[in-house]
Amino acid sequence: MLAQETLEPGQLPVSPRAVLLSKIREGRLAVPVLPAVAHRLLSLAARDDCDLGQLADIVGSDPTVAGRLLEVANSAALRARSKITSLHHAVNRLGATTFRQVALAISCKSAAFTARGAEPILREVFRHSVATALCAQAVARVRGVAQEEAFLYGLLHDVGRPVLLQAISKVHRQSIRVPLHRSVSSFIDEQHTIVGAQLARRWQLSLRAQGAIRWHHAAASGGQRDAPSTVAFAEALVRVFFEEVDERTLGEELSLCALALEPADLARILGKREAIVETVEAFA
Ligand SMILES: [Fe+2]
Ligand SMILES: [Fe+2]
Repeated sequence: MLAQETLEPGQLPVSPRAVLLSKIREGRLAVPVLPAVAHRLLSLAARDDCDLGQLADIVGSDPTVAGRLLEVANSAALRARSKITSLHHAVNRLGATTFRQVALAISCKSAAFTARGAEPILREVFRHSVATALCAQAVARVRGVAQEEAFLYGLLHDVGRPVLLQAISKVHRQSIRVPLHRSVSSFIDEQHTIVGAQLARRWQLSLRAQGAIRWHHAAASGGQRDAPSTVAFAEALVRVFFEEVDERTLGEELSLCALALEPADLARILGKREAIVETVEAFA
């Protein structure tokens, strides 16, 4: 529960919920800073002439990201045949796109997917985010729209959740208790798209990415917006790939999301199932 703050003598009682809401409404909620590695990777992502050595050097500038990237690159899921011992070797083996995506996900995780005491929840949110990113990328690929961008907003669509968990633990001045109280869960459900969009604005992500994060739930209830619809449909795919939801539900989801996908396009996306599940396992 969002408990009352300890009051100084004479201080007016203000509930933590009201404190957080006013910060969110006024855009004053503290959000994590965009990590330097992610910033440099994002500016490089917009260019086609990206140099593999430069990518390896950017990741090498952060030993934590570099170490974790080598672990992921050596996972069975990414089909490491022989041990990868350097970032230059990893970028050549994985290719620029996968290398950049793995590095981006690791770097955003260490900056934004943290909150004291909430580790089990954050692990799930991060796993769901990576899965949504890969599915959004698969949707963008068949639609012939920017895949890198779709990956990014899939990755960050729920980033408001960890940011709110951090904010709640600060208001309480203690770590989060798991499982979350119903009132905390519903507060996060209500506010995470607003807070996520605030973070995307602060990180100077594109308006399209900001919109995808802000409206990814509204899209599934009949909206016409393209980027949020991609995320909403990617989430439907995640339910099919990871939660044993029947794939026949996808037809209805497509019309809810107002996404024009031909049956052959959907079949191509469904063909990526195994590769997506394996890649998510590499991050888990
Ligand atoms: Fe989500
Ligand atoms: Fe969400």
